[in-house]
Order: sequence, then C-alpha cells, then structure tokens
Amino acid sequence: MCGIFGYINYLVEKDRKYILDTLVNGLSRLEYRGYDSAGLAIDGDKKNEVLAFKEVGKVAKLKELIDSQNLDLEETFDSHCGIAHTRWATHGPPSRVNCHPHRSDPNWEFSIVHNGIITNYKELKTLLEGKGFKFETETDTECIAKLAKYLYDQHPTVGFTDLAKAVINELEGAYGLLIKSVHYPHEVIAARKGSPLVIGVKTQKRMKVDFVDVEYADDVPLPAETASQNVALKKSAAGLLSPNGLLGAADKSLLHRSQSRAFMTDDGMPMPTEFFLSSDPSAIVEHTKKVMYLEDDDIAHIHEGSLNIHRLKKADGSSNVRTIQTLELELQEIMKGKFDHFMQKEIFEQPESVVNTMRGRLDVANKTVTLGGLRSYIDTIRRCRRIIFIACGTSYHSCMAVRGIFEELTEIPISVELASDFLDREAPVFRDDTCVFVSQSGETADSLMALRYCLERGALTVGIVNVVGSSISMMTHCGVHVNAGPEIGVASTKAYTSQFIAMVMFALSLGEDRASKKQRREEIMEGLGKISEQISSVLNQDQKIKQLCEERFRNQKSLLLLGRGSQYSTALEGALKIKEISYLHCEAVMSGELKHGVLALVDENLPIIMILTRDKLFRKSLNAYQQVVARNGKPVVICNEADAEFQTSDAVKIEIPKTVDCLQGILNVIPLQLIAYWLAVMEGLNVDFPRNLAKSVTVE
Ligand code: F6R
Repeated sequence: MCGIFGYINYLVEKDRKYILDTLVNGLSRLEYRGYDSAGLAIDGDKKNEVLAFKEVGKVAKLKELIDSQNLDLEETFDSHCGIAHTRWATHGPPSRVNCHPHRSDPNWEFSIVHNGIITNYKELKTLLEGKGFKFETETDTECIAKLAKYLYDQHPTVGFTDLAKAVINELEGAYGLLIKSVHYPHEVIAARKGSPLVIGVKTQKRMKVDFVDVEYADDVPLPAETASQNVALKKSAAGLLSPNGLLGAADKSLLHRSQSRAFMTDDGMPMPTEFFLSSDPSAIVEHTKKVMYLEDDDIAHIHEGSLNIHRLKKADGSSNVRTIQTLELELQEIMKGKFDHFMQKEIFEQPESVVNTMRGRLDVANKTVTLGGLRSYIDTIRRCRRIIFIACGTSYHSCMAVRGIFEELTEIPISVELASDFLDREAPVFRDDTCVFVSQSGETADSLMALRYCLERGALTVGIVNVVGSSISMMTHCGVHVNAGPEIGVASTKAYTSQFIAMVMFALSLGEDRASKKQRREEIMEGLGKISEQISSVLNQDQKIKQLCEERFRNQKSLLLLGRGSQYSTALEGALKIKEISYLHCEAVMSGELKHGVLALVDENLPIIMILTRDKLFRKSLNAYQQVVARNGKPVVICNEADAEFQTSDAVKIEIPKTVDCLQGILNVIPLQLIAYWLAVMEGLNVDFPRNLAKSVTVE
C-alpha cells in the first residue's frame, strides 16, 4: 500500500528541475495512498550515476531535502527515467533506509519502487545472502533489486524485458513495480500483479497521433540467441536461482513477447514523447489524458519512445489488446479548491456526486432504472440462490445499509460479509451464488482475495466500484461504477453515499419483474430524485454542527452512537468516521441491544448520539431513547424535521429532511461525517491523512 510514480521523456528536452518537480508533484497527488516516508531516484551528472533522495514524513519533507542539496537544476536531458514512491509501511518501520527506491548495490545498478507485498521475500533474501548480497533494509522490496542484479551479473547481455520477466517470475505476492537500471539507461520496466498501475502517454503539441491500441502477441518465440541468454530460473528447491538455469521445457511461458508500439510522426520519425507511470490516474491527469491501464501479469517496457506490453504468463484467453483510453477526470476534481481539506470538499460534493451516480441510469419521470453494466446478467442474478455482499470498512457499512431493501425488493436471501472474515471462515460459496464486491478503490487486498476465492468456486461476481480500471472492476463478471469522482481524503464520505445509491438502483433493477413491488419501487425512485437537494439542506447545518462539536463532544473520551434497523449501519459508519479522523473512541450500538449491557455506561456525562428518524422501527427506537433519558443521559438526537415527538423535549436536535425509509441513511450519515470532520479540525489533526491509515489497503 503505497503510491508509485515514474516519469520518462524521449526526445523532449527537460531540465533536472522539471524532472524533479514532476516526480515530487506526482507523489503529492498519491500521498493519500501512504505518507510515512517518500523517496525518488533520478540520473546524476556523470554516466551511470544515480541520485537518490529519501526522507521520513510527507512528500513536502522530501522536497525540503532535495531543495537543500544544491543540485544543478539546469542540466538538461532529452532522455531520462526517474522513479518515485510514497510509502505506507508494511515491512520495516518508516525510516530513511526502509524508504523506497531500493537498490541492488551501493552503485544503484538497479533501483526499484514497489507497491504491494512480496510474500516469499524471506526465501529470496536467504538465497541471495547465500550468494554474498548484503541487505540494508527490513523491507520485502529490496530482494527484487538484488535479484535483478544477481541475474544480470550472470547474463549481462540479456535484454531488460527478459531480465525483468525472470525476476518477476520468482516473485510471489502482489506488486506494482517500476525498475530503473544504469545498464538500460532511459528505459523503465513497469509490472503489475494485484496492485494498480497506469501509464500516461503525452506527445508534443501539434503532433497528435491517433492513439492505437497496444497489442501483445503470444507465442512469438524469441530469437534463438536471446532465448539462450534468457535467465529463466528453475523453481525446484535445488535449482532455484541457478545461474545456469537456462530455458527449459517448463519455462516456455517466458517466451511470449510483445509487439512493439512506437509513437511515430507522420513522416515516420520517432515521436518526442513523455510517459507518466502511476498507481492512480489522479497523478497523471494534469500532464495527459491518454492513459493505459496495465493488467495483472503485464510487464510494460518503455524504451526510446516505444511502449511494449509483455505477458508474464501465456495468455489465458483474455484480450491481448491494451487500449489507450482518454481520461474523463479533470484536474480540478482532484484539487481542494475553496476547501481546507479533501475530506471537507468531498463531504460538500455529495449533492453532485450522488447525481453523477444516478446520471443516465435513473429516469424519475418514467420510473425506470437502467444499469448498463449489469444488463446481460440481471436475469441470472434474479435466479441466483442468494446474494452475498463482500466488502471492508465503510464499503461494508454501505452493504449493511442496503441489505433490508435488497431483501424486500428481490426476496432473495442476502448476506453481508466482511471480506477478511469471509476468507478466514472459508465460507461456502456455490455456482448459483451471486457475490457482490463493493469497494471505493477496487484494490483492497481482502476484497480482492475474496473475489478470487468466489471466482474459483464458479460464482457470478459483481463489482460496485468507484475507481475505473481498478482490479475489482476488471476481475468481476459485471458491475456498476459508482461515479462518485476521485476520493482523495482517506476517510471515505462521498463514495459511501454513492455506493448506497448504486446499490439501491441495483435492487430496483432486480425487483423490476415483481408487479407487487411496483409502487414501492416508484416511491424509492421519487425519493432518489429529491435526494441531492435534501443532502444540500443537511449540509447547510454545517456551522451548527461545528458549534455542537465544540459544546458537546470536544475533549471527551468516548462517544456512543445508537441506531436501529438500517440506521445501525449509519451508526457504524458514523462511529468509524469519528474514530479514524478525530481519534475519539466512538462505539456504535444497535439500540435494541442497549438494555443487554451497554446501558451500564450511560449517565449524565457520557456523550451519546441517537438516530431517531421515522421508520417502521421508530417506536422501538424510542424505547432506547427513554431508557437513556431515564438514566439522566442527555443524547443528541438525529430526527426528522419538526418531528412532534421531540418538539417539547429539551434534547439537542439535528433535524434531517424526511425521505423514503430505505434512503434515510444517506441523509443521516452526513451530520456524522461533519462531526468527525470538525472534531478532527478542532484537535488540529491531519484530517486527510489520519495516522496509521492509507486510502487503499492493498495488504491482507
Ligand atoms: C474508512 C475507509 C475504509 C475503507 C476500506 C475499504 O473511511 O475508507 O474503511 O472503506 O478500507 O476500502 P475500499 O472501499 O477501497 O475497498
């Protein structure tokens, strides 16, 4: 879980300042993915010299370090490769030495940045130590750089791609990787398995090319002499890392090679080109909108302006075309604009992001819902034996929030699973199950592993994902993009409300064939039509909520959040938001459970928020309210506007517009997001980068 960024120019003259600024800026866009240390590697003044800089802390610290170095910033390069990394520590604590890039040796013959985890690094390390390598760090990544050097030293005439294939073939686990080497100047290898990687291509102004698809071709043998130089490794215990391990029959998969695609001018000259490699398109969009997403087992080689895609394994029947697509993302979408924090911006974007989720899908006037990404599968899903929702964290809460409406509209048994627990239990999954994977990033390791598990068992898989091109969106059979726009703040806000709405639309589509549900479906569609405006009206209470935080919740040790039915998921989500951003302990309790133990905590001092908007469980929820008040508790009540029940009570109220019961959670969660936000701001905490967390959790 980290962010990686690379920049390569070819026949485009750039000075060192530009190269450094581009790398540092790319990292700062990716900082939400990890921010405990950062580093980069560029070329030095002399041949084969690499300049590497690493610093603990955020990217700004790295920039300070670089600025203090008195580098020759004016030196120009018409071909250059730089790689950079922002880290969320997994192996080894944040420190300069553990910071990426990692190197093969003191001369930086091979430099590597890596996002993911190499699970067999201990074995590789032991083997390489046996070959005389001295390890400097506690990371799993270092073994990749050292393995590259070891293999290169055995076969110094090998091409960069073949070397990379041999190295990568030995790795187990997950990786998004960039490799730079003094032996292959101005070239880069980019590879992915389980961790995202996207390549942006920018050609010079007025030299527009039609961006062709980049194809790789299978079964094209390498020329004999290259094959004989290939450094394929034998995986047998005895033969592992044998320098003589030339290609054997079992290693033919290494012989798949790509079709090269150079970017040429009209008169057949090489095109001056810049390439930007990143974990996420948000770091690319300000340079170019032409991007290509790598798929698992792709190895991209960029060399003299050409982009080649190779496959680590023989193609499995999936497409051998990687399309260069045009990003729809705008730079301003990933800038904070007038807001102080991304989280605040994203909370306030919700009136718009929910509309984007419904755009072109929900037609309130004609009472129809069309989800193009599910069209060919909807009948199969209707016939399935059960629907299992699988997710983590906030995404799990959004699944909990819609469980009731799915059961009601589809009458199909529904279960909601935390991905990690689902895997721990090795829960039974069958061919006639539909497994729905809900994820903002589409890269969460636990969810991805659960997806693989369900695919192996033949279930139909559906992705409800925000990030286009993410692993979950690519690996599932069908799905819905929630279209909330880039979410940068580590605490998920607008993705939650958009997931909620995407799933309600999914339930509406599934229930379409049931005449008995027509009226209910229409009522929900009408509710969705008004939801954006209602979110805006809740957001108008921002300053009131800020004041409430000041008066009631600031400097407290603990906070209780009570909800019942689908509002329990709102309570869970609110409690998670408050914990992760303000570090205030906050517990969500199902109101019906209060009397079974938690009531013992209640007195006149314990801060409590109770969600008491009207639904069929309202009377029961009021029981819990009475139980709290009877113990001198002074709950803050989230209730519907002008609710007669609370008009005469002296409870502090947050009044929320009324919507259809199954949509009420979309509005109720907003004051809780604002409470989390203001509590964190009041404590002077880093709202967008809470300690110990990262946006995309690509580790198990
Ligand atoms: C909390 C939060 C996390 C994520 C969880 C799953 O604000 O964002 O709990 O929801 O890590 O991430 P995704 O949705 O990307 O799979």
